[in-house]
Amino acid sequence: MAEQVHRLIYRSHSTVPGDRRDEVLAEIFDVARSKNKKAGVTGALLISDHWFVQALEGDEAVVTGLFETIREDDRHTEVSVVESTPVAGRVFSRWSMARISASGRSDIPLHDVDGRIRPAAPDQPDREQQELLTRMRNTIGADSV
Ligand SMILES: Cc1cc2nc3c(=O)[nH]c(=O)nc-3n(C[C@H](O)[C@H](O)[C@H](O)COP(=O)(O)O)c2cc1C
Repeated sequence: MAEQVHRLIYRSHSTVPGDRRDEVLAEIFDVARSKNKKAGVTGALLISDHWFVQALEGDEAVVTGLFETIREDDRHTEVSVVESTPVAGRVFSRWSMARISASGRSDIPLHDVDGRIRPAAPDQPDREQQELLTRMRNTIGADSV
């Protein structure tokens, strides 16, 4: 039987001061990757100067439970769900939590948006991934992500 996957996407406003950003983000990714791996959660966290947009994929109860923990985290505020829905499969299956940002390291390269998406090739992120990342970027109107 195919795996039942639930995907939750939210966006939030970062409360992390600029001068502690690198340190705090490293901490978040360390914990997220290790906990998500154990819980069978995959996803991506998109980072702009002031906003986070995160996609969490996995078992519905696990994902919604994790989201309840994340939403209480005081490193962000104004947490609002963009979508929470069953999906046919994982889009970020390779990542316990991919880091997506324009400045600094990004685990998945960001191609041109607005439909100018290149065909998927073995060494390139696939189309579905780029489409979802584009949708995530659009929720914060993020030219800079
Ligand atoms: C923007 C943001 C994204 C986060 N993403 C995750 C995540 O994907 N997985 C995770 O376990 N924790 C994530 N966290 C951290 C959780 O809020 C929490 O601190 C962590 O899961 C440890 O919780 P615990 O002490 O209850 O185990 C995130 C925090 C923030 C601010």
